[in-house]
Amino acid sequence: MALSRLLVTVGTPLASALIYVLCIGYRKRARIYRLRQQGIAMPDGWSWWFGHLLVLDKKLKKLPHDANVFMAMGDMIEEHKDTEYFLMDYWPMFQPVLMTFAPEIAAQVSNKLDLPKPADQEKSFRPIIGGPSLITMNETQWKFWRSLFNNGFSASHMLSLVPTLVDTVDVFCEKLSSHVNGDIFFLDDMAMNLTMDVIIKTTLDIDLDNQRKEHKLARALNVILDWHSFWDPRILLNPLRIPVQWYYGRVMDTIIKAELQKRFNEMKAERTTDPSNQPKKAKSVIALALEEHMSQKQRGINQAFETLKLDPQFATIAANQIRMFIFAGNDSTATTLVYTYHLLSQNPSALAKLREEHDAVFQSPNAGDRLRDDPALINQCRYTLAVIKEALRLFPPSSSLRDGVAGVSIVDLQGNQVPTDNLNVTIMHRYVHVHPRFWPRPLEFIPERWLVEPGHELYPKSPLTSYRPFEHGTRNCIAQTLVYNELRVALIMTARKYDIKPAYDEWDSRENERLGVFASVAKNFGLKGNECKTVLGERAYQTTRSGAHPANRYPCRVTLAQR
Ligand code: HEM
Ligand SMILES: *[C@@H]1O[C@H](CO)[C@@H](O)[C@H](O)[C@H]1NC(C)=O
Ligand SMILES: *[C@@H]1O[C@H](CO)[C@@H](O)[C@H](O)[C@H]1NC(C)=O
Ligand SMILES: *[C@@H]1O[C@H](CO)[C@@H](O)[C@H](O)[C@H]1NC(C)=O
Ligand SMILES: *[C@@H]1O[C@H](CO)[C@@H](O)[C@H](O)[C@H]1NC(C)=O
Repeated sequence: MALSRLLVTVGTPLASALIYVLCIGYRKRARIYRLRQQGIAMPDGWSWWFGHLLVLDKKLKKLPHDANVFMAMGDMIEEHKDTEYFLMDYWPMFQPVLMTFAPEIAAQVSNKLDLPKPADQEKSFRPIIGGPSLITMNETQWKFWRSLFNNGFSASHMLSLVPTLVDTVDVFCEKLSSHVNGDIFFLDDMAMNLTMDVIIKTTLDIDLDNQRKEHKLARALNVILDWHSFWDPRILLNPLRIPVQWYYGRVMDTIIKAELQKRFNEMKAERTTDPSNQPKKAKSVIALALEEHMSQKQRGINQAFETLKLDPQFATIAANQIRMFIFAGNDSTATTLVYTYHLLSQNPSALAKLREEHDAVFQSPNAGDRLRDDPALINQCRYTLAVIKEALRLFPPSSSLRDGVAGVSIVDLQGNQVPTDNLNVTIMHRYVHVHPRFWPRPLEFIPERWLVEPGHELYPKSPLTSYRPFEHGTRNCIAQTLVYNELRVALIMTARKYDIKPAYDEWDSRENERLGVFASVAKNFGLKGNECKTVLGERAYQTTRSGAHPANRYPCRVTLAQR
């Protein structure tokens, strides 16, 4: 009696929960099934129970365990040459995603339809960024903030920050010099320390000097990242995660807000003293945004500037924006710098040309001082820019993710309508960038293609849609000039001084030694296979780590350049 009562009281909600899950599951599964019937392109091997996860898993098994998931999709790209998009069903992990590598479809997503940013991205980034920021904001809120920041990231303002970049790259050179003829080191880590310093100096005007000694802002961020995962239950379910991330988020906010207050006070002081006292130093991005905001506000309420206070709500979101700049820019820029050196190490003739350009533009080996005096010299380094563009073409650090919209369809290459209701859309930059319909000799590193005139055999077709490392449309990367400037300054100041060479062979044999007897016994007994260590023949393959960092953080050696 008691048992059956228990079963009824506990069992009913359980059973109804189960039925509910099955119903939702069935509805979602049936939808994919219908889309399949309608002829929406999707990879073979779809299953009612696991969507395309098993198909993907099979492809992933052929790659190193940490290879970027996009690299597993090469076969699917081949199989969908006719539509140039396909639907990946990630059930039960995520919503189904329409994946595309057609520049024509990408242009619809980013420009014509301007599909919205993923609705729940803000929530998943919250522990790192703290709340709403440019990268996740919806249309309405985004417009206000983007217009505040556009001026700070403009080409002319970015040029005024070149001397700041030179100072930061000077420390990078000091770091490289300390490894000359030394042991293997990880260029990826060194590059991240550089990009972190650059972002904070240019946007907030604090010199973290994080390349020499870990700054407390960087440390707070690193703790938050150590406790971050989008999926790992061991981290997500740990009761300490939320308080720890909250605490270190506060640490970051406190540092950033104190700086904001300082900038605000400086602004006030500037206005009340003689206006002809022009500030000598270039302003940070946040200082310009603050000025813009305050003058908007002043116009709105017609109040004397001296009586205005720093609006706490504004300060909170501004602090998020700074945290987001680090999140969006630190890994991506560092990765690009490392791949640029990597490609140069594999292409000696390109490196020679690069050095010739730097000799021609700067004459003296000390390019830093020349740049400080005349920042516009970077614009004369056309080959340098071509090298960077080519690195970003072959190893784009990001891709673009958008939400579908009910009633909005994409038109595929045959003119068929593909509804986007309840789907997500991803533009796979890597595959757009090596698309044979648009790129002659797509897989080769040829900086010259960026310097030839239209009509030349190397000239890419429709570069405005077929090249999109920073995306296009309203939600494109706000910081592309900063990135191009930083990478140009870094190359100008290092390419003639150093030879950087990957040291994967040595690294791998050391690792094997370290794993020692146990691993080799296991291998001999067939318990552990020789795991594949390259992707398409590339040992420095892109990994899953945010920003698609090169494998093993790029172990390498540096020597002084022999010319
Ligand atoms: C090589 C380096 C970088 C690459 C390849 C890159 C790429 C991108 C891409 C593809 C997007 C669009 C994302 C989407 O459509 O989903 C984006 C947006 C953005 N990026 Fe970057 N980025 C880089 C560096 C940076 C840096 C250094 C910063 C900041 C200092 C930055 C700030 C932003 C912001 C704020 C957005 C959002 C813009 C908006 O929605 O208004 N990025 N970036
Ligand atoms: C996919 O789209 C849904 C519905 O718009 C959205 O809630 C979700 O955040 C998106 N998923 C991802 C991974 O972006
Ligand atoms: C956009 O976000 C703001 C702030 O979170 C919110 O108040 C507003 O309703 C949102 N608008 C739309 C159209 O979603
Ligand atoms: C940014 O750079 C620092 C190194 O200065 C690194 O520890 C951190 O993991 C990087 N990534 C992000 C998302 O901040
Ligand atoms: C990066 O900076 C941290 C301190 O901020 C330092 O401990 C680390 O050694 C640096 N990494 C490299 C490769 O220089």
